[in-house]
Amino acid sequence: MRTAVVIIGGGPSGLLLSQLLHVHGIDTVVLERKTKDYVLNRVRAGVLERGMLDLMRQAGVADRMEKEGHSHSGTVISYGEKTFRIDFVEHTGHAVMIYGQTEVTRDLYEAHEETGGKIDFNVENVVIHNANTDAPHVIYKVDGESRRIDCDFVAGCDGFHGVSRQTIPLDVRREYEKIYPFGWLGILSETPPVHHELIYAASKRGFALCSMRNENLSRYYIQCALSEKPEDWTDEAFWEELKRRIPTKQAEELITGPSIEKSIAPLRSFVTEPMRWGRLFLCGDAAHIVPPTGAKGLNTAASDVHYLFNGLRDYYGNGTTDGIDSYSTKALARVWKAERFSWWFSSLMHRYPDQSEFDLKMQIAEIEFLRTNHAAQKAMAENYVGLPY
Ligand code: APR
Ligand code: PHB
Repeated sequence: MRTAVVIIGGGPSGLLLSQLLHVHGIDTVVLERKTKDYVLNRVRAGVLERGMLDLMRQAGVADRMEKEGHSHSGTVISYGEKTFRIDFVEHTGHAVMIYGQTEVTRDLYEAHEETGGKIDFNVENVVIHNANTDAPHVIYKVDGESRRIDCDFVAGCDGFHGVSRQTIPLDVRREYEKIYPFGWLGILSETPPVHHELIYAASKRGFALCSMRNENLSRYYIQCALSEKPEDWTDEAFWEELKRRIPTKQAEELITGPSIEKSIAPLRSFVTEPMRWGRLFLCGDAAHIVPPTGAKGLNTAASDVHYLFNGLRDYYGNGTTDGIDSYSTKALARVWKAERFSWWFSSLMHRYPDQSEFDLKMQIAEIEFLRTNHAAQKAMAENYVGLPY
């Protein structure tokens, strides 16, 4: 079998890239390790930057998002009983869209099926061959049957635990990582959100986040120790702890209910360089990870897809290679800005086990500066709504 681009990974990165290439008549095959239902059952963040909205529209999959998504023009930051709001529209002229990543992925799968896109699920033993030549190919197994696809390019959209990054030789790759000394315990509950916008809460007991998916589906997180497990927390214990970390007004108004999902995610910053090796391009979580604080995971995958799609479109459209040749440099320039913002916001809002009294004073001074300084709020807003591609 032969195709233009083999896309490894049927998550948001792979599906969005596939759909954009399809719209421009460029053939792809997507290889996904899991089943579609498994992919769709992943609970992930739901804050979309303007660049992602534009890409969804470009791919022709924005209709439901436009109808069901919620535009947020700002967010609330609290520390103890103090709260203030960052007005995205006042500072940048842009809002963000609240629309679950699961819904983004669902819309992309529906479009992929409608357009007859080729995807193999439950693939195993994916191996990328000759990526650093002009004739790469991919070998894999489905239901025990070995298959080979010859192609022009391979897009590694297979996430942090995929094979693509590992295909780049160790003496070519440079990796940068920071592991945070805490995790996020998150629950999903079929309850109305406590506030119409997100609340990022810093407190002496640790960080909390009040988020949502829609008017009757709320998403809450509390910072927890890495040693903790979801089963250590009853719903009641979670709600009580959350109430102790958010301002009293919201704690009193909070509507609690049974959790329909409960999980703990570790926090990590990670970048691999370069994001290209020969005809293999890394996209999204395959190349970088951010702590969820700034909601940059999907949005940084989106900017990778933007750069790679434009490079491939130019290659197939007029034979130019400038786009694909500059892909890694361009993508990484924006990746590091997202890494910086996510690290900064995480450092601002979480309690660190080894924090000295002075460190705590610096954290409070930084929050106070953000609360009282226009330029600081503008910088926060510009990063949160999404820096330009
Ligand atoms: N072969 C085929 N598919 C694979 C392989 C493999 N060897 N390894 C992983 N995959 C699949 C996974 O099953 C997953 O569906 O690749 C997909 C990668 O999807 P994501 O991990 O969601 O990564 P990405 O598409 O880049 O999306 C980034 O997802 O993890 C969140 O916070 C992240 O919001 C961000 C978004
Ligand atoms: C979420 O709704 O899951 C969410 C929102 C904002 C974040 C992280 C997660 O910064």
